[in-house]
Amino acid sequence: MPELVSHPEEVKVISRRWGQGAADIDKYIELGGYAALRKCIEQGPEWVINEMKTSGLRGRGGAGFPTGMKWSFVPKQSEKPKYVLVNGDESEPGTCKDHLIFLHDPHSVIEGTMIAGLAIGAKVGFIYLRGEYRYLIEIMERALAQCYERGILGKNIFGTGFDFDALSHTGAGAYEVGEESALMESLEGKRGVPRIKPPFPAVVGLYGGPTVINNAETIASVPFIIEMGGAAYAKLGTERNGGTRLFGISGKVNRPGVYELPMGYNLKKMIYEVAGGIPNGKALKAVVPGGASCPILRADEIDVGMDFDQMGKAGTMLGSAGVVVLDETVSIVEFALRTIKFYQHESCGWCIPCREGTDWLKKTMTRFYEGYGTTKDIDNMRYLAENMLGRTFCPLGDAAAMPMIGFFKKFRDEFEEYIRANPSAPESQALVELVGA
Ligand SMILES: Cc1cc2nc3c(=O)[nH]c(=O)nc-3n(C[C@H](O)[C@H](O)[C@H](O)COP(=O)(O)O)c2cc1C
Repeated sequence: MPELVSHPEEVKVISRRWGQGAADIDKYIELGGYAALRKCIEQGPEWVINEMKTSGLRGRGGAGFPTGMKWSFVPKQSEKPKYVLVNGDESEPGTCKDHLIFLHDPHSVIEGTMIAGLAIGAKVGFIYLRGEYRYLIEIMERALAQCYERGILGKNIFGTGFDFDALSHTGAGAYEVGEESALMESLEGKRGVPRIKPPFPAVVGLYGGPTVINNAETIASVPFIIEMGGAAYAKLGTERNGGTRLFGISGKVNRPGVYELPMGYNLKKMIYEVAGGIPNGKALKAVVPGGASCPILRADEIDVGMDFDQMGKAGTMLGSAGVVVLDETVSIVEFALRTIKFYQHESCGWCIPCREGTDWLKKTMTRFYEGYGTTKDIDNMRYLAENMLGRTFCPLGDAAAMPMIGFFKKFRDEFEEYIRANPSAPESQALVELVGA
């Protein structure tokens, strides 16, 4: 079981119940659980959506879309049933936060799902866990079964006339099914490839019905927002970026782990104070601030606040808040190769710019890494990655291209130095020039 870390700078909201046995319903209720749901049933859907809007909560899955606004897009009247879908696919390298929520506080996900259902008029919620999280399925299933035993799920919940059912489901280990429309395809039992948008899920989603899809951390935040009130939650963060965030810090730091810190927390402080700095007195080289798809920051660019807007201004993204720290010993060339290998492997292959783009990037990067690289390769790879941007059915193509562009832009000197340090075999060099790749 992953160890929990802790630091005095943390503001524990979502992680408040971790390590206290709250996966069991009695403990969850003892620690205040399901009171938020009762309050929401009393207050009604409009009040709930307003609280969510006031909270400034933005989606924790990566894109940072305002949650209250997303919920308000769901049509009030619908001939088809509406659904809530919780995205627990968590497969972006560097991201390791949702599994702790499922492990330590699965009822917060169930309660958040029910509140979302109440807000949009859905009677069914699905909790989708990544295929590799098999060990969490038992915990989730037990939590759901306990809710049915206590009458917290099912018909006439708390005697109020509110009905809601929730189910869990696992994927089969594909990063692509974390993309919301591919997730719906997968849940419907089809191959997990994305749908063309529009229509957006809020209007035509799962089984053709209006659907709200939110990340597990987003959903788990909901009961806490209701408990403390949207305005108080908003104040914890920065302007337009309400609340706290689970930051997963990994790589070359002394104390890796998942820390809950206010939105906007300074990245430098996070690395040097919260995560204890770089081991063995080594120097910091770079940071990937929000999961593998986010453009890299050089060591001199990390004095910046970690919220969606400040990260955007810094030329990168907050993404899924998976902070990967690289010290001076890490080769950016090798890191770039690993990154593109992941995306090439995970591309679903449905659209050509992503399938071919990731494949050519991987092939060229592999040859480059093996010592047969040329400066023209660096230009070609950057050009190729730039031409993938915005040209794929879903953002996986962007997710692969953006970090690659970042590596070439920020560390071109290291790629050039790599060519000098690893002179290619003359016959291979001639072949490279002949095929022009
Ligand atoms: C290739 C790809 C993989 C994704 N993987 C995840 C994931 O594992 N978990 C997640 O919550 N969102 C993931 N997303 C984002 C979802 O499409 C969607 O934006 C998110 O679930 C919406 O929830 P939120 O508004 O609460 O962030 C992924 C997107 C793409 C393009």
